[in-house]
Amino acid sequence: MQLADYLKSRAALINDELERLLPHAGAFPPSVHEAMRYAVFAGGKRLRPILVLACAEAVEGEYPAGTTEVACAVECIHNYSLIHDDLPCMDDDRLRRGKPTVWVEYGQAGAVLTGDALLTIAFDLIGRAANRDPAFSDRLLLCSQELAVAAGTFGMIGGQVVDIEYEGREAGKDILHFIHTHKTGALLRASCRLGALVCGADDAALNAVTRYGEHLGLAFQITDDLLNVDGAEEKLGKAVGSDAERGKTTYPALYGVEESREMAVEQVGKAVEYAERLSHPAVLVQLARFVLERDH
Ligand code: IPE
Ligand code: IPE
Ligand code: MG
Ligand code: MG
Repeated sequence: MQLADYLKSRAALINDELERLLPHAGAFPPSVHEAMRYAVFAGGKRLRPILVLACAEAVEGEYPAGTTEVACAVECIHNYSLIHDDLPCMDDDRLRRGKPTVWVEYGQAGAVLTGDALLTIAFDLIGRAANRDPAFSDRLLLCSQELAVAAGTFGMIGGQVVDIEYEGREAGKDILHFIHTHKTGALLRASCRLGALVCGADDAALNAVTRYGEHLGLAFQITDDLLNVDGAEEKLGKAVGSDAERGKTTYPALYGVEESREMAVEQVGKAVEYAERLSHPAVLVQLARFVLERDH
């Protein structure tokens, strides 16, 4: 299957599941449920849940019980993080996925609460799957823990804290590496590991998927930095040039555009090496290359 068709079919599967699992927009209190759906269905590549699915396929060739709930849970965490990231007290962005950001549409308190709601529902979704399929509850408990740690202060939040603390002052190479591997890398790495954990993967497969996710995660954020320099706002659906405006240290700011591109290529090369250790690596190899070539 062509990668474009693969991405389309897996994103459709995730969207159907999110549609089924999220509260209806009219459920009381409607404002928050409407805002959750506004954020989640504004678009988005669904890369993290697709990685969960693709890693399960690479390890097991199928989706064991709870895989789609786990994949949706990661997307909920990701959407919560974007809603909070866009707030005026954070990156102060007004455009996301080509639409006004949640705080612009629902106010700042509304955006904080909508983010909170998406964070908490993520763990509800995994719990629901575990209750429905008790034979898989041990694996799903591991998934819950994996996601909590990756989203927390030793993962994504840790990265966001340092990103904000270094705004307006130059971060050195080690700090920049920390920011990128945590604010973005932690959830991408976890997405890959979750795909393996739902399958009860052995240590060798879990290790290969973990390293794949780490290299892919770093390449992804370097590309995000590069797109903020020379991407097209209408394709990205978010502002271009905002990193420099806010005084963020990024890969192109510290290493220059050319060297940053080379670093992303090198990371993708390493990701591919680890993917090739798995039983069915083809899609993961293509996904790693997509991260490099993406324009949105
Ligand atoms: C954007 O992530 C924020 C980062 C962590 C770099 P994505 O580029 O995956 O955003 P969507 O989900 O496709 O909108
Ligand atoms: C977003 O990083 C990371 C999280 C939301 C955890 P950025 O702030 O660099 O991403 P964009 O450019 O707003 O999507
Ligand atoms: Mg940010
Ligand atoms: Mg931002």
